[in-house]
Amino acid sequence: MKLTRLVSPGEINAAARLMAAADPWRQLGLDAASCRKMMRTPFRETWKASEGGNLAGLVTITMYGTFKGYIQALFVAEAFRGRGIGEKLLAFAEKKILRSSPNIFLCVSSFNKRAIKFYRRLGYRKAGVLTDFLVKGHDELLMRKTTGPVLKRTK
Ligand SMILES: CC(C)(COP(=O)(O)OP(=O)(O)OC[C@H]1O[C@@H](n2cnc3c(N)ncnc32)[C@H](O)[C@@H]1OP(=O)(O)O)[C@@H](O)C(=O)NCCC(=O)NCCS
Repeated sequence: MKLTRLVSPGEINAAARLMAAADPWRQLGLDAASCRKMMRTPFRETWKASEGGNLAGLVTITMYGTFKGYIQALFVAEAFRGRGIGEKLLAFAEKKILRSSPNIFLCVSSFNKRAIKFYRRLGYRKAGVLTDFLVKGHDELLMRKTTGPVLKRTK
């Protein structure tokens, strides 16, 4: 598996189409244009995992603002799931984030039970519930993995 920054508009378009066809984005009604916008928003970076020249997965990180160190999206293409690629992409993002913040945040749709289990196994805990956050009728769980408080007190 190779990890590189996803920057070319053609590749971003192809990735956005793949994501939009998959849950949870499909179930939430987020189309390819929304997925593309998600990746192209300033202060975000997207990293892709490639296998044999194919896009196997991606992770988009926001490194700015109150929730600095926010995982905006984690996606593994269906044919590549269950082989540890998601865990590797997440570990890569965590390492980048932990260089400048002790917190890693992400949101996961409440109906996405397998992903919630996956994140819990990897140390994420529920920090709150955002009711009807993206669309009416579906909540987003805010999850956090932390190595400690933001401010270090001396006593
Ligand atoms: C969640 C996801 C990133 C995991 O990536 P992956 O490469 O399949 O994961 P790994 O091989 O590292 O680990 C396998 C785990 O993923 C879980 N998983 C979560 N959603 C899954 C899905 N839709 N299909 C298959 N496995 C899934 C498996 O149950 C397994 O969990 P376990 O080890 O606790 O049994 C990937 O399945 C995916 O892209 N799902 C659809 C998009 C999504 O839900 N993203 C998270 C949105 S916040």
